Amino acid sequence: SSNDRINALSDALTGNLKSIISSFDSIRSKTSRQAEKQEKKQMERTLVLLKPSTIERALVGEIVNRFEKKGLRIVGMKMMQLTDEILAQHYAHLVKKPFFPILKASMMKTPVIAMCLEGVDAIAVVRYITGYTNGRKADPGTIRGDYCMSNQQNIVHASDSPEAAVEELNRFFRPEEIFDMGDLNLDRLYAVDEL
Ligand code: TYD
Repeated sequence: SSNDRINALSDALTGNLKSIISSFDSIRSKTSRQAEKQEKKQMERTLVLLKPSTIERALVGEIVNRFEKKGLRIVGMKMMQLTDEILAQHYAHLVKKPFFPILKASMMKTPVIAMCLEGVDAIAVVRYITGYTNGRKADPGTIRGDYCMSNQQNIVHASDSPEAAVEELNRFFRPEEIFDMGDLNLDRLYAVDEL
């Protein structure tokens, strides 16, 4: 009968739709598995500056200790005096702000210590443990939350994105000043499938 034919046709269409949907599902889960895999493999390098507020308050050891204990590997470290030129580049997004002259002076008051830290997702991890810009509002447990009361004398600078990390590491380090630590300690810091 025509009813039977309609039912057969509708069954066939439903079957086709189901198989199309399931192949979409399989593509989607494969893509998210790939994304997860890629996410896990991000061994990154990031720039940290121990600002003059850290040097003046003799907190260098404590702050370095926080990063080291966390499991970030120090792959570059040096003391340097910042200049007008490097600060105009480093704080290019802030040069027009009224507070820029005081910021610049505060960053030139003593030398700073530049560090290159390495780890899986290091850029985000370092920002997270650095905390909110203003030390008065930063969460306790973060470096700024635990060590300062200021919006400007806020202990550390940390790169805020993968693009900034590359640009800032190039600005503060020559290639030969950043060291390849090979697999030193990696087996203690990460599970095998995290690398
Ligand atoms: P910003 O890039 O906004 O913050 P962060 O250091 O958390 O990435 O600002 C850079 C520095 O400029 C900041 O660490 C301290 C200084 N600053 C001031 O002195 N006053 C301000 O109002 C702001 C926003 C920043």
